[in-house]
Amino acid sequence: MPRQDVLKELNLWPVWRQRAAAAPELAEGLDTAAASANVTENRRDAILRMDWSELKASVSGCTACRLHETRTQAVFGVGDEQADWLLVGEGPGAEEDKQGEPFVGQAGRLLDNMLAAIRLKRGRNAYIANAVKCRPPANRNPEADEVAACEPYLTRQIALIQPKLIIALGKVAAHRLLGTDSAIASLRGKLHQCQGITLIVTYHPAYLLRSLQDKARAWEDLCFAVRTMEGLQSATREP
Ligand code: URA
Ligand code: SF4
Repeated sequence: MPRQDVLKELNLWPVWRQRAAAAPELAEGLDTAAASANVTENRRDAILRMDWSELKASVSGCTACRLHETRTQAVFGVGDEQADWLLVGEGPGAEEDKQGEPFVGQAGRLLDNMLAAIRLKRGRNAYIANAVKCRPPANRNPEADEVAACEPYLTRQIALIQPKLIIALGKVAAHRLLGTDSAIASLRGKLHQCQGITLIVTYHPAYLLRSLQDKARAWEDLCFAVRTMEGLQSATREP
């Protein structure tokens, strides 16, 4: 996009003209901001057009946020690329960073058990991904700018998979997918929408490992998800 159009889109064009007249060096700063917005937009558009192999290559070489500096490898996601179920976590932990697969540590074992309880298995009609693809150092939560930088990858994964149901595991995933900052307690037990797909929120398995009293609630959420999926599958089944 030409600089003038980018500045217009950002509502900066009148400001730029004013500043260019008064102080050329200030206008340069605006040029830089517009250029970087331009790069970000082009990057997002390009990612949203990628096929699976382009997307995987792009994630593994990505340097779009500071998390690339400390990762061992990016963790793309795993499972059935035509799954009805998509489970979305927060970001890789130490074990995931080492192995390159999501949810393979302690929280992952609990997630596998939760999946088994509803007769699912990673790789069989289920796909597992994270809001950010690189491990935040010392297992801190990803920052908002990191989640934003990683947004196009998960958006593209959702568009390619076209699952029937998305399960957001925990606060970071729910906030990223729903664009809200409401508490998990108020998001659970309801049907939401993300990219035109039905979405249910539940607790993160790592949180459940620490907070046993919420395991019963997580079980309710899974039963709600199974009932919802049955409805969605019968709605799309051939008569
Ligand atoms: N926690 C997450 O949110 N994702 C993983 O992949 C592992 C732990
Ligand atoms: Fe890129 Fe996402 Fe990794 Fe950041 S977390 S470097 S945006 S892949």
